[in-house]
Amino acid sequence: MLAMRTYRDWARATRRVTRPQIVAPTTAHVAFDKAAQSFRIKLVRVPVAADYRADVDAMRRAITRNTVALVGSAPTFPHGVIDPIEDLAAIARQRGIGMHTDACLGGFVLPWARRLGYDVPGFDFQVPGVTSMSADTHKFGYAAKGTSVVLYRGTRLRSFQYFTATDWPGGLYFSPTLAGSRPGALSAACWAAMVATGEDGYLLATRRILETGAAIRQGIQAIPHLRVLGEPLWVVAFASDTVDIYRVLEHMTRRGWSLNGLHRPPAVHICVTLRHTQPGVAERLLADLRASVEEVVVAQPARKEGLAPVYGMAATIPFRGMVRDLLKKYLDLLYRP
Ligand SMILES: Cc1ncc(COP(=O)(O)O)c(C=O)c1O
Repeated sequence: MLAMRTYRDWARATRRVTRPQIVAPTTAHVAFDKAAQSFRIKLVRVPVAADYRADVDAMRRAITRNTVALVGSAPTFPHGVIDPIEDLAAIARQRGIGMHTDACLGGFVLPWARRLGYDVPGFDFQVPGVTSMSADTHKFGYAAKGTSVVLYRGTRLRSFQYFTATDWPGGLYFSPTLAGSRPGALSAACWAAMVATGEDGYLLATRRILETGAAIRQGIQAIPHLRVLGEPLWVVAFASDTVDIYRVLEHMTRRGWSLNGLHRPPAVHICVTLRHTQPGVAERLLADLRASVEEVVVAQPARKEGLAPVYGMAATIPFRGMVRDLLKKYLDLLYRP
């Protein structure tokens, strides 16, 4: 959100863009919608290519004089694939606009993967046109939730993130981020977690996660009725052309697995973390998945409860406002005393 607001204000100050827009693939995190809604930026969502990565030509065509930045993910949350950041960044550079790499998931995995010899495409500041990045310390940085990192190429762009006030009776005021008072303890704990993990810790964790990710990906590919989407490393999405994938998800939930339901297209994903690398976990996941698919194949008729009908319905209701209201009602329920 900070980076998007920064691009908005940067373009307003340097190019007089008054109706800012950001071009992002459909798979870029929904936090970009939240930023767009919050900061009155138009978010142009561009369908991804058949491999679930950003469609570079379509992204290029979506750029207008109001475009302030392009977005790419390394990797994407839904399908775990790395967008062609080098190509997107080259376009951004040529057009004089920003290029944000969302490395929230990959920021603390991909650099280590590269060190381990994996063929990781350019996604970071080594790529000339990348002007900002985000990386979540609370994910594969192994710090507690509450910290994350936004990085800019250079202090000039970063300065558009700052809030300053010079005329308030309370004194001169400045604040680098959106939140006001923030706990220093969280930053200290984050730093401690990173130092304690150390390079060796990150390398070991990354090796285990990528090996487990590869085993899970191969295992899923070998299960009849399932297919893996794209070419993922450790966030593995799978779908089916023959069975209701949401019913498979339900069966997995009943077996104690907490997987994510995706839609457009209907799919399920697992994000492999260090916990899944413990001996026997991947094998158990694959055995349960195989059994769940078999149960869905033989079970007739479709059950009327659980997630499957909810996702099925949400996908088909043309009135998205209704689905939005449902989500708000759900939040209300969570806050019910
Ligand atoms: C790839 C990616 N980008 C962005 C975000 C959004 O982060 P936040 O929850 O801080 O808005 C997430 C969170 O899961 C993510 O996985």
